[in-house]
Amino acid sequence: MAELMIATDLDNTLVGPAAEHRLALRQLNALIDRSDVRIAYVTGRSYISATRLMAEAGLLIPTALVTSVGTEIYFPADGPEPDALWWQTLQPGWDVLKVERIAECFSALKPQDPAEQGPFKRSYLVGPENALGLLPQLESDLKAAGLQVRVVYSMDKDLDILPLGGVKGKAVQFLQQRWGISPERTAVCGDSGNDQSLFEISSLGIAVGNAQPELRQWLENNHGHRVYQAQAHCAAGIEEGLHHWKLLKV
Ligand code: GLC
Ligand code: MG
Repeated sequence: MAELMIATDLDNTLVGPAAEHRLALRQLNALIDRSDVRIAYVTGRSYISATRLMAEAGLLIPTALVTSVGTEIYFPADGPEPDALWWQTLQPGWDVLKVERIAECFSALKPQDPAEQGPFKRSYLVGPENALGLLPQLESDLKAAGLQVRVVYSMDKDLDILPLGGVKGKAVQFLQQRWGISPERTAVCGDSGNDQSLFEISSLGIAVGNAQPELRQWLENNHGHRVYQAQAHCAAGIEEGLHHWKLLKV
């Protein structure tokens, strides 16, 4: 059987807060720790924060670690440097200073911690009461400045401005090409707004049972995508989804 890719978000998808989530994670790890499975973690966290979580939560070493909402790709076997080829593809239409200048005009946008900013990621905090009104204006100002970017809003608080091609789903497509793995052999798993792009690439989607309202809403309005909405939460939801898509048959 052809190789399988499991591309999963970390927080509240693979890793949950409670003891039962940790148990389910151990069970899932045992199922997917196989030579024909390539694991890619695809997270909003920075590289440092993601590697810390990997150690704390007892995660398997992935073949690829995609951090900063898709804007950085690491191959742990090759060392701690982000993939330069991926960064080259993100450059057209991106100008971090212009992005910052435009975002500064919106007083409701509070920059996140400097550790959360990356060369291809500018992240802010904004509550839902301000986000709804602000999003269309921010998007059109960025576009009017000639920038090719995507604005991603998650968890009723996080707003990321990313290169148009630098989102999680595009990073997974980059890995599919590199490894020669088809969408039919790729499971993509997530729980929140910054995972939406994972479900846009016509791979086999798994939304965990504890998915956020923003992602549920989007799934309700976008029926064309292959996304299984699991009942179980976090890692148990991923396992449920892998069985649904019949991906774990020997
Ligand atoms: C993670 C990142 C944060 C980002 C959020 C949503 O929490 O640390 O910078 O805004 O994901 O993508
Ligand atoms: Mg998450």
